[in-house]
Formats: sequence, C-alpha cells, structure tokens
Amino acid sequence: MIMATIISGTAIQTSCSTNDNNALVSDTNNDNAIVESILTRTSVRAYTEQTISADTIELLLRAGMAAPSAVNKQPWHFVAVTDKDKLAGLAAANPNAKMAEKAPLAIVVCGDLSKALEGVAQEYWIQDCSAATENILLAAHGLGLGAVWTGTYPKEERVAAVKDVLKLPETIIPLCTIVIGYPEDQPNPKDKWKPENVSYNEFGISSL
Ligand SMILES: Cc1cc2nc3c(=O)[nH]c(=O)nc-3n(C[C@H](O)[C@H](O)[C@H](O)COP(=O)(O)O)c2cc1C
Repeated sequence: MIMATIISGTAIQTSCSTNDNNALVSDTNNDNAIVESILTRTSVRAYTEQTISADTIELLLRAGMAAPSAVNKQPWHFVAVTDKDKLAGLAAANPNAKMAEKAPLAIVVCGDLSKALEGVAQEYWIQDCSAATENILLAAHGLGLGAVWTGTYPKEERVAAVKDVLKLPETIIPLCTIVIGYPEDQPNPKDKWKPENVSYNEFGISSL
C-alpha cells in the first residue's frame, strides 16, 4: 500500500517533468525514475495554502525512518509541526527559515542521544539524521510537494530556540527543520555536476 503510494508519487513527478528539468535529466541519458527524482529535486520555499494529509505526513516520516544509520541505531526523533503558532516559532528560530511561517508543515529532524552510539561514535547521529532528512526531501519531491532543509544544529542559539518551541527534552537535539508544502512555484534544479570535484582511484586523477 505504502510502496504503491511511493511508486505513484514518483510517477506523478515523472509525468510532470516536461519543463526545463528534463534538460538536466536528458543530459545524463537517464531514464531511471529514482535517479530522475534525485536530479530534479530542488529547494522550494513558497507554498500554496493546501494542507497536507495525515497519511502523506506519515509517508514522509516513513521515508525518513527508512534511512541508513550507523549500527542501525536509528538515533532520531521527528516532530511533525502543523500548528500555526509553532510554525511561526520555528520561523523565528532561524533568520533563514521565514518560509515556515506560511507553510502547512514542518518536520523537525532531531537526534536522540539516548539512542546514539557511545564515545566518539555518538556523532554519527548527525550523519544518520542527515540521511533521514534527505530521504524526506526526496519523498516530498516524489509526492509532488516542495520542501527545503533549514539548518539548526550546530548553531547554539537556533538549537535553544527550537528546543524551546517544541519543548524538547535534554537528550533530543534538533538538527534541522524541513519546511514542506505544495509548491507555489517550481524552481529549476541547479546543475551541480563538476568533474573537477571527482578523482578516480587516486586524488587528482580526472578519468578512469
Ligand atoms: C545544512 C543545510 C542547511 C541549510 N539551511 C538553509 C536555511 O536555513 N534556509 C534556506 O532557505 N535554505 C537552507 N538550506 C538549503 C540550501 O540553501 C540549498 O540546499 C542549496 O542552496 C542548494 O539548492 P537546492 O537544494 O535547490 O539544490 C540548507 C541546506 C543544508 C544542507
């Protein structure tokens, strides 16, 4: 049931991509729906007033929890926020997250240190939660939603402000706020392919 929804969500995106996004995809000669979805995702910061159903919110959360995590610790906690006052609080917590004020949904991705690894490996929670965040961004894109990752951790004042808004306990650390809604516009994805950022087999070797 869930898989069918995900697949149909991807199909929606595939059938909608008749704009410039296609250039990016055809450049790579790619016809794989998942790769196409990855290449056409872009940050969306303006939303219509349409609300997001509880089923769709659960699907986004399931996508987040499907992410890989070190030793499969799943050291995360997600706070789905639809309350207007809370959304305004999240907007105030980050000067670059003003779009949250007018969004129907934000998902705050948090690390749960009580579930994290011990010692220096504790910091894997940041990578684990980042993987969950990207999964949610891609799921949102596949479902015809628009979303943007807004940064919280490691900025202490933002962490404190988000903790305050959401009444987070000591061990729950907000990594980021994903602001989500039905897109008001559809920004073109950026082409970020830079061959100079790649080496093959050894640093500085530019081809196979
Ligand atoms: C760690 C991190 C923090 C970010 N913080 C913000 C933010 O506070 N506000 C915002 O509008 N976008 C934020 N972004 C989104 C980036 O600006 C965006 O991903 C980047 O410009 C590339 O554009 P694209 O997502 O459309 O490919 C953040 C992205 C990351 C990964």
